[in-house]
Amino acid sequence: MTRRIDIVEVGPRDGLQNDPGTLTTEQKLEFITRLEDAGVKRMESGSFVSPRAVPKMADSAEVFRGLDRTRKTRHIALALNEKGVRRAVDAKADEINFVLVAGEGFGLKNQRMTPQESADALAACAPLIHEAEIPLSATISVAFGDPYSGEVEPAVVANLAAQAQRAGVAEVGLGDTIGVATPWDVRNVIEQVRLQAPDVYLRLHFHDTRGAGLANVFAAVEAGIDVIDASCGGIGGCPFAPAATGNVATEDVVYMLERAGFETGIDLGKMIETAKWLEPLLGHKVSSSLSKAGAFP
Ligand code: COA
Ligand code: ZN
Repeated sequence: MTRRIDIVEVGPRDGLQNDPGTLTTEQKLEFITRLEDAGVKRMESGSFVSPRAVPKMADSAEVFRGLDRTRKTRHIALALNEKGVRRAVDAKADEINFVLVAGEGFGLKNQRMTPQESADALAACAPLIHEAEIPLSATISVAFGDPYSGEVEPAVVANLAAQAQRAGVAEVGLGDTIGVATPWDVRNVIEQVRLQAPDVYLRLHFHDTRGAGLANVFAAVEAGIDVIDASCGGIGGCPFAPAATGNVATEDVVYMLERAGFETGIDLGKMIETAKWLEPLLGHKVSSSLSKAGAFP
């Protein structure tokens, strides 16, 4: 039997939020449609954060208004405070992904919260989201290292995941926001999180900043993870992380997994085409390997 690995496409949010290029709302919607045509069933389609903090996501409400809901794609909205949650509910997000932070340095710069304050904010916002009957997930950012405070203890990540579980979060993403994890860290953090938060489903989120992105996907899959975040073309990064680079590229992840016999439901050719379609709009080449080398065989 083929094992299924689900890709959550984060290009329209994590991808576009930090790119030097800017897409219009119409272009974002075309990007989303192309991703759907390539087989994406779940994607981060925008974030409801301060437009002053992240200007590229200022039109997320318009993007959500323009979505073709007949396609049944699960459109995820990112939020990190109550105002964002309320805006995401108003936008009729199919899922809200709340951002927790595992490091104090990054937390204060990115969302002006310590790790515990981010967990408290989630606990305060969760009832709102449950009342609106919107599936709630959470992503723990800088789970493998913080650009300002340095090493992050796996116990801190596990404790945040346990608090998310208590708040009724169905799925927790472990985010390597600055691309510092190694495959062995990935296995270790997953093990520790499972001990403290056995009831949450785990999703892994990698940035390929230091060359270990695909190796980390391998380690996650070997550890039994079957939901992986990735961005078309490998675009992306966080405006509050120095030297941020993109997420692992969807087409590179799909190629590696499908060639090994896993099933992702993504059409590799269409994903590569979409990555190439982005290049003139963004005004630069995308970083994925498959967009350069093409598929094989
Ligand atoms: N959506 C829209 N506007 C928001 C908002 C939200 N979710 N949260 C706060 N704001 C607005 C406030 O209304 C206020 O606007 P005003 O100055 O016009 O009155 C302004 O932002 C500042 O609000 P305040 O509560 O003082 O927040 P802050 O200055 O401490 O900033 C955050 C904190 C969280 C709002 C801000 O840092 C942020 O949005 N960060 C997002 C980081 C991000 O998206 N990172 C990448 C993904 S992890
Ligand atoms: Zn990210």
